Amino acid sequence: MSDLKPSEIVKELDKYIVGQHKAKRFVAIALRNRWRRRNVPEGLRDEIAPKNIILIGPTGVGKTEIARRLSKLTHSPFIKVEASKFTEVGYVGRDVESMIRDLLELTVNKVKSDEQEAVRGKAGEMAEEKLLDLLLPQSVSFPTGGELNAIADGQTVVDAPASSTTREKLRKMLRENKLNDRTVDMEVSDRNMPVIEVFSNVGMEELGINLKDMLGGLMPKNTKRRKLKVSEALDILVQEEAQALVDMEKVVKTAVERVEQSGIVFLDEIDKIVGKDGGHGPDVSREGVQRDLLPLVEGCTVMTKYGPVKTDHVLFVASGAFHTVKPSDLIPELQGRFPIRVELNALGHEEFRRILVEPKNSLVLQYIALLRTEGVDIAFTDEAVTEIAKIAQEVNEMTENIGARRLHTLMECLLEDVLFDAPDTAESHIVIDQTHVREKLKDIKEDEDLSRYIL
Ligand SMILES: Nc1ncnc2c1ncn2[C@@H]1O[C@H](COP(=O)(O)OP(=O)(O)OP(=O)(O)O)[C@@H](O)[C@H]1O
Ligand SMILES: [Mg+2]
Repeated sequence: MSDLKPSEIVKELDKYIVGQHKAKRFVAIALRNRWRRRNVPEGLRDEIAPKNIILIGPTGVGKTEIARRLSKLTHSPFIKVEASKFTEVGYVGRDVESMIRDLLELTVNKVKSDEQEAVRGKAGEMAEEKLLDLLLPQSVSFPTGGELNAIADGQTVVDAPASSTTREKLRKMLRENKLNDRTVDMEVSDRNMPVIEVFSNVGMEELGINLKDMLGGLMPKNTKRRKLKVSEALDILVQEEAQALVDMEKVVKTAVERVEQSGIVFLDEIDKIVGKDGGHGPDVSREGVQRDLLPLVEGCTVMTKYGPVKTDHVLFVASGAFHTVKPSDLIPELQGRFPIRVELNALGHEEFRRILVEPKNSLVLQYIALLRTEGVDIAFTDEAVTEIAKIAQEVNEMTENIGARRLHTLMECLLEDVLFDAPDTAESHIVIDQTHVREKLKDIKEDEDLSRYIL
């Protein structure tokens, strides 16, 4: 498994996220530290705890975006969860341990599909043989008299040498896709288990025990005879063979080890589990969620349906806007478990300008692509982009600062006419320049009340 160097991680993140250099660096270091730890001699390795990070910054400056991009970059097991989704143990809802179960489930699936991919060649060969068996009923050649018995049994008797040449001919046709239109009769396992209503109390579900899985093993295998196209049948057979070839025990072992050694949990919206003083109702349980998080972050053992998983070396990256509350409002024990705090900067017009055009998936490129589907070529002059960025900053200052999300509202408003008329318009080339931006957005911007509503 190749791991990226910190500079490479930052470079990858730079493709999508403008600025926020400090946050990128810290995240990159934390990621690289996982790799370093894995290469430390064993005795010391267990002593090195991950340095959990909190990303703090106003809304819409790229916190969640960093997480989304990271998850694509890293080969480590990665899950992004919203802290606000969890409830305290004892309340109805998801408890915090379920994030580890989900992380493991994701990893098991990932490892399984990788393994299946690895045995695909072998599975393909075996599936081909099976399919040929179906196309050409098994030849039975008994030395003497036996043939009679076979016939009595209703089997087709084909002369052995002849059948093997037929088989090879068929194989050739199969490989050349000449049999694709033929159908075969095949036993297909019926995936739809009879519906079992399980009135489980929460405990069961939380353990991740899947009743259906358990009972599924006990029930007779449900198969159905179906007529399938040869190509479909081959796909199913390959799938089945690949599944049979993969050693699930090994898969689970690998997955558990990966989660324990290099798992990463991105805990978004952590500020939403801060309960204000003297809170009632939901606030009470919010602090409970924080308390429940303590052992998880510190390192504990979580029971899952694949067995126990230790969280000692799972890296936690939390993030929150902390608009109305401060990081110091988190219960102290939890604060202490996130030693690294990184602030993300509020964004100004220069960043906005770059966000509009620089990222690989930038807003401007998105609109150009959208309109191209209607045969309309749209272009933005540099001055227009600068103007949009400036207006975004001004509106953010005047009303609420919602960061780069303001660009989304502005762009929609700016292009409203074009987007509406695109299918009917005769114009196939539209240039958005500074005047256009001003005309379209100036009035709204100037009227503060109006901009509160529209932009
Ligand atoms: N620095 C940035 N570079 C590029 N795009 C950005 C940047 N900051 C924000 N965006 C864009 O703005 C939108 C919102 O950003 P994001 O979801 O990361 O906000 P956030 O910081 O998580 O805010 P919140 O605290 O409200 O969750 C995304 O579409 C993202 O692409
Ligand atoms: Mg967010």
